Amino acid sequence: MNASLHNEDFFKGINRLADRSIDVIISDPPYGLGKDYGNNSDHLHGADYVEFSRRWLDAVLPKLKDSGSLYVFLSWQNSPEVFSLFKTRMLMVNEIIWDRRVPSMGGSTRKFSSVHDNIGVFVKSKDYYFDLDSVRIPYDAETKKARTRSIFVGKKWLEMGYNPKDVWSVTRLHSQDPERANHPTQKPLEIVERMVLAGCPPGGHVLDPFMGSGTTAVAALMHGRSVTGFELNPDYFAEARRRVDALQPPAPASASASTLRKSRAAAAGRARAIAALPLPQD
Ligand SMILES: C[S@@+](CC[C@H](N)C(=O)[O-])C[C@H]1O[C@@H](n2cnc3c(N)ncnc32)[C@H](O)[C@@H]1O
Repeated sequence: MNASLHNEDFFKGINRLADRSIDVIISDPPYGLGKDYGNNSDHLHGADYVEFSRRWLDAVLPKLKDSGSLYVFLSWQNSPEVFSLFKTRMLMVNEIIWDRRVPSMGGSTRKFSSVHDNIGVFVKSKDYYFDLDSVRIPYDAETKKARTRSIFVGKKWLEMGYNPKDVWSVTRLHSQDPERANHPTQKPLEIVERMVLAGCPPGGHVLDPFMGSGTTAVAALMHGRSVTGFELNPDYFAEARRRVDALQPPAPASASASTLRKSRAAAAGRARAIAALPLPQD
């Protein structure tokens, strides 16, 4: 599996990628909330933010296979406008709410505490790749035992688990979390792994235009997919490279959910260098 990681403005590097070569795009752009990423990228608001979203969508869309999909992280402030825009170009199949569970400390006393991100799932055609079995959630023993009536016996969903709902409740990464890297808006691996497994066939190719600390790259390589990623900030890029270099060999595509969980835990501790290779058309 190849990791093609670039400390570069994605708008400049993207054209070197072959058209229709990407299975899934996982995009976590600046949200337009004024965060300091060591550049001005998070300082666009209103119509300017929508225009920025249109520009990056225009740049990545030709790279996506017809069977491909796009996951985009956004916040409630801009997601309505951006989703409306993307719906004019692609088919929207889900809005996933990431419930971060723990609100930020302090915050407003004049409105409710915001604790979710909005993730849009868009596809290029109705024949898109989606592997539900790889992301099913196993039933607990008690629920399985309660479903012993003959009509349930041998049912695939009972053995393999249920389809994850569109509210994903995953605690945000606090500063003491062993997964925590040096990036202010790092996303949990658990979330991005689910996108990789469901949206990209084994051996396929994942694109992350706004890579940050490299969460998408780590998730892709852990599950035997190639990845191309871009990041402007040299410190975040170094962090992404460090995390990728610390990976163990990818888990086999057929591994069970529990094997995958164990492999994720082991990945944090083992070291194996995965060289960053040039883009396919470099
Ligand atoms: C929301 S963060 C991504 C966080 C990432 N998902 C993670 O888990 O670490 C967005 C990142 O995009 C980077 N960025 C902004 N504009 C960019 C551009 N034109 N090309 C490449 N990276 C860019 C920022 O420096 C920032 O690190």
